[in-house]
Amino acid sequence: MDFRRSFLFIGISIVLVLHNLSNVEGRHHIHSGRKHQSKNENDGSPAPAPNPGDDPVSNSPDYPPPIPSDPSNPPYIDPVTPNPENSSTGCTFDVMEFGAVGDGSTDDTAAFRDAWKAACQAESSVLLAPADFVFLITSTIFSGPCKPGLVFQVDGVLMAPNGPSCWPKADSLQQWLVFYRLDDMTLTGTGTIEGNGEEWWQLPCKPHMGPHGSTLHGPCDSPALIRFFMSSNLVVSNLQIKNSPKFHVKFDGCEGVIIDKLRISSPKLSPNTDGIHVENTKSVGIYNSVIANGDDCISIGPGCSNVDIESVTCGPSHGISIGSLGVHNSQACVSNITVRNAIIKESDNGVRIKTWQGGTGSVTGIYFENIQMDNVRNCIIIDQYYCLSKGCRNETSAVYLSDASFRNIKGTYDVRSPPIHFACSDTVACTNITMSEVELLPFEGVLVDDPFCWNAYGIQETLTIPPIDCLLDGMPETVGESSLYGCK
Ligand SMILES: *[C@@H]1O[C@H](CO)[C@@H](O)[C@H](O)[C@H]1NC(C)=O
Ligand SMILES: *[C@@H]1O[C@H](CO)[C@@H](O)[C@H](O)[C@H]1NC(C)=O
Ligand SMILES: *[C@@H]1O[C@H](CO)[C@@H](O)[C@H](O)[C@H]1NC(C)=O
Ligand SMILES: *[C@@H]1O[C@H](CO)[C@@H](O)[C@H](O)[C@H]1NC(C)=O
Repeated sequence: MDFRRSFLFIGISIVLVLHNLSNVEGRHHIHSGRKHQSKNENDGSPAPAPNPGDDPVSNSPDYPPPIPSDPSNPPYIDPVTPNPENSSTGCTFDVMEFGAVGDGSTDDTAAFRDAWKAACQAESSVLLAPADFVFLITSTIFSGPCKPGLVFQVDGVLMAPNGPSCWPKADSLQQWLVFYRLDDMTLTGTGTIEGNGEEWWQLPCKPHMGPHGSTLHGPCDSPALIRFFMSSNLVVSNLQIKNSPKFHVKFDGCEGVIIDKLRISSPKLSPNTDGIHVENTKSVGIYNSVIANGDDCISIGPGCSNVDIESVTCGPSHGISIGSLGVHNSQACVSNITVRNAIIKESDNGVRIKTWQGGTGSVTGIYFENIQMDNVRNCIIIDQYYCLSKGCRNETSAVYLSDASFRNIKGTYDVRSPPIHFACSDTVACTNITMSEVELLPFEGVLVDDPFCWNAYGIQETLTIPPIDCLLDGMPETVGESSLYGCK
């Protein structure tokens, strides 16, 4: 609790310092970003940014920043606060009053745009998608700057078009709902965000979805369901988020994010449906959430630091993953990531750090603590040879991994893979790995392979089960002072 309070307080202070917003309209038209999209299907490639060039508002004058009253209060807004200008609705902007139908088949995009436009201009306002309605909307960028304290509240169901055939040709295939250039904003509600991803997962270009289990070539873009981009001091809470065509919730270029009590679900065999993905994002708390999907439960990409994950349940999934980092010889800097009190069940990986050959930078200060594994393959895995095809060569540079600890990690593993696997780069060893109270037993059957280490330096504070005798003592000669490898 203390941490979260100080987090909010720091967040609010940052708001005060950085406040440079204008009282302006958001942009609401739908962008077509398709022409210049990257064809890269892997986790790390950022979707095209909304084009800031057509934003008419960048030079508007400042207005005085608000004075926060009590920093210990979360930024929730009482939706029934009476507004002297409109005593019937206060500062709630109900999409029904902007013409939404909510029957699940009428396109309600325009009503959401208009409600956003109004809510954006009023301080501490609530855009409400009320319960008992199903709102179909197409790809939309909810853009700021807006007045602070805006709450986007989904109590009903917010639904994406049903698969590629219903996706308007002009819409971006990279993203569905985008929140852009916002500060001090909350996405919450008792409702559901439904991605209707099924037809996207079955595209023949997706892994093994072609004829006879093949994977066909060709464009394979699928939209992330909810993307926060270039925004700060965000809260995302309480919602149920389902069946995304690709990543469910994605943050890039953000700072100050709290995620609390989300329930994210997609089938086990839905490709690329990461639950929560963060990249180039700092100061993130992910709490009390339950995620079941077909790819990483939580994935942490390059440029992230100070990420705190606590009380999260994953599974089925591909586990909690740092990476992939260093793709296409890029630099990646990741530091200070904590995962604590997590349950990972029926998953392809438990806790994983994956980097490509040829990258630079470092991943450092990684703490995995109190994690229960339940029938998990690769419970603890460092893979510095990550590769999606067979054509990756060994290179001389790598993202340097150091100061990673694995403490109190207990439970059962699926014997098809060794439960502990540290494959570090040939040229850049992993250093200062700490193992303590790691006890992993076969879920059923017997394991053939022992734990694996390659060029991994570290210590066992207590003996692990299964025993690991392949960690190297001390430090290698080649890494030393230059340990951050270009990261600050
Ligand atoms: C009060 O709010 C309703 C719904 O948002 C709107 O239709 C109406 O015009 C508003 N009245 C005034 C006086 O602003
Ligand atoms: C690490 O991140 C946590 C938040 O997860 C933060 O409270 C702490 O100050 C950070 N530590 C450093 C050394 O930056
Ligand atoms: C890369 O290096 C690792 C570790 O030395 C080795 O196991 C692997 O076979 C090598 N791969 C290639 C493609 O040379
Ligand atoms: C090793 O890593 C731990 C974190 O797991 C850190 O506290 C410690 O300072 C590191 N030791 C060295 C010698 O860098």
